[in-house]
Amino acid sequence: MSERHTPSPGSGPADEFGRDAVRLDEGHIEGTGGLPDRFENPGLPPHVARKADLDEKAAKRAEKQVVGLFTLSILATLGFIVAYFAFDPRQQVFVPFIGRMSASNLTLGLGMGLSLLGIGLGAVHWAKTLMPDEESVEMRHPMRSEDEAREGVAATFLNGAEASQLTRRPLLKAAAGTALGLFAVPPLLQVAGSLGPLPHDELSHTFWDGEKEGENKYAFTKPRLVRDPENTPIKATDVTIGSVYHVLPAGLLDLEHGVLEEKAKAAVLLIRLNPGDFADNELGRKALDWSHEGIVAYSKICTHVGCPVGLYEQTTHHLLCPCHQSTFDVTQDCKVIFGPAKRALPQLKITVDDEGYLIAEQPFKEAVGPSFWERG
Ligand code: FES
Repeated sequence: MSERHTPSPGSGPADEFGRDAVRLDEGHIEGTGGLPDRFENPGLPPHVARKADLDEKAAKRAEKQVVGLFTLSILATLGFIVAYFAFDPRQQVFVPFIGRMSASNLTLGLGMGLSLLGIGLGAVHWAKTLMPDEESVEMRHPMRSEDEAREGVAATFLNGAEASQLTRRPLLKAAAGTALGLFAVPPLLQVAGSLGPLPHDELSHTFWDGEKEGENKYAFTKPRLVRDPENTPIKATDVTIGSVYHVLPAGLLDLEHGVLEEKAKAAVLLIRLNPGDFADNELGRKALDWSHEGIVAYSKICTHVGCPVGLYEQTTHHLLCPCHQSTFDVTQDCKVIFGPAKRALPQLKITVDDEGYLIAEQPFKEAVGPSFWERG
């Protein structure tokens, strides 16, 4: 039997705060209030058979429930596949408590979520109701099993397949197999979808080109520059030297659909330099020529892989991309002076209208964004 040792207060050496010290001594723990030094094995609780173990009707009912859950997963996966092809990612819907969001994202997310939920709940319910429910005790043994035991493992697997009733219940086997097999399709579609299609000339046309409705799809209308997200036009006289604005073409934020996609291509940084700060070379002169009295506008989309270039160092006039540290020199037409980007940021030529507001003098003359695409 276990032996208890309860020290009387103050019997052990006290620590600096006056507490009794804990000391290990031949299997006894002193100063812990008399914990036993060994415990009796409580053994396993008595086995309680489940309904499905005793009643074939209950087992059948459980099987139907599991099949139902796997069927839910199958339907959700099929819904995902249909939604993938049916919805234009730019199509927006209103969702209560959330607001406007992409119909494609909503249905794809719901499809994949329900699909996983069906498989998860089905597997748990199957395990709780139909799979073997025996407690077993396995003693520790050397890591490598005897040949006989290894053969036993193989036999256990076979017995497991039998005991899980896969072989006896073909409907359950078909439902589980189809749910798991189909579930491989959405990730494959996602991978295939994100590999393409190539943008072709999509990056050569932005909202700076003008209205996108009607026949005159890319008619140039000299849009005003507006602050993002305030959507207010900017007077050239309000832009002080050293200031930076995130700007968009007027009208973009008022679009009903596709604001995010258009914004991702048309985002521009507006910076004012002292005209004397521009480099005295061809690049510096071109940048100044396309500016309005030293106010320059450059695409904010990094030419490496498309992160937003958002860090401006006022003293050096460098623009930094936070993703891989590509650095662009604003005084030299945003030419790359460090990092993996291979192409300068495209400049937007700007001027002012009759009221002194900044407007685009012409659309971008080259494609914005990553430069590894086929540009044609
Ligand atoms: S995306 Fe800008 S450096 Fe890589």
